[in-house]
Amino acid sequence: MISITNIEKGFSGKPVIEGVSAEFETGKCNLIIGASGSGKTVLMKCLVGLITPNQGQIYYDGESFTSMNDDQKKIMRRKIGMLFQGSALFDSMTVEQNIMFPLDMFSNKTRGEKLKRVAEVLDRVNLSEAHKKFPAEISGGMKKRVGIARAIVLNPQYLFCDEPNSGLDPQTSLVIDKLIREITTEFNITTVINTHDMNSVMEIGDRILYMFQGKKEWEGTNKEIIFSKNEKLNSFIFASEFLQDAKDMRMLEMKGKIDNNRDMDDLLSR
Ligand SMILES: Nc1ncnc2c1ncn2[C@@H]1O[C@H](COP(=O)(O)OP(=O)(O)OP(=O)(O)O)[C@@H](O)[C@H]1O
Ligand SMILES: [Mg+2]
Repeated sequence: MISITNIEKGFSGKPVIEGVSAEFETGKCNLIIGASGSGKTVLMKCLVGLITPNQGQIYYDGESFTSMNDDQKKIMRRKIGMLFQGSALFDSMTVEQNIMFPLDMFSNKTRGEKLKRVAEVLDRVNLSEAHKKFPAEISGGMKKRVGIARAIVLNPQYLFCDEPNSGLDPQTSLVIDKLIREITTEFNITTVINTHDMNSVMEIGDRILYMFQGKKEWEGTNKEIIFSKNEKLNSFIFASEFLQDAKDMRMLEMKGKIDNNRDMDDLLSR
């Protein structure tokens, strides 16, 4: 489990993350959702140590990450895998070389052992034919899968995915979501995912943290989100009028109020 308490981060005096406390559970997909600019990426970068928060504590399974020295943080980072917003593959390297990179940096394996591990993770993300291809030669969904393979190659205990579905069609997004969820449960990883994809929220949102203008506005599960009365959350989730009407109708139906055509006409006329 990762827990954070009272995280604050600002740039040039402008607050971006304000007093955020939360817990991210082991073996679960913990989602951070919120509008563009609400602070999801900055919060995730604080969690993995790419940005130092101005205030607050971060604990990885009880160990205080914030009070570790640089050497201790380096050891900790080996337990962390990250899929960056936009995949961030090295264009001049093949798929195999991209995935080999963390092994070259952080392990003492022989070349044969490294190649075996690369083949294992590529197989795990159903890309066993792509070893020698360059990023420019594969599709967006395949790039995400290479990014996931690279993120898990060192057997991380913690996995961070920043917008794993950005730029993907709904069906490919579902494949990526399911893959992340399978890996999370299979290896009992603490997974944190930034997203504004509502399909992901409903599909894999074991725990959801909703950020609004740098603050934690709501938290709960994908079951609870449908019935939440939080207005900011609702206007984010049900952003289109169509979805808002669908939600209103569902709520009315549940209260047994759709009992005549006038209510229905009233809703449909809005
Ligand atoms: N290095 C930085 N210096 C100054 N401001 C920054 C920096 N990084 C982020 N910000 C600001 O922090 C705010 C939150 O940005 P962040 O990237 O976390 O948003 P986000 O929720 O991830 O958005 P998106 O959904 O578009 O990815 C934005 O106003 C952004 O301009
Ligand atoms: Mg972002």
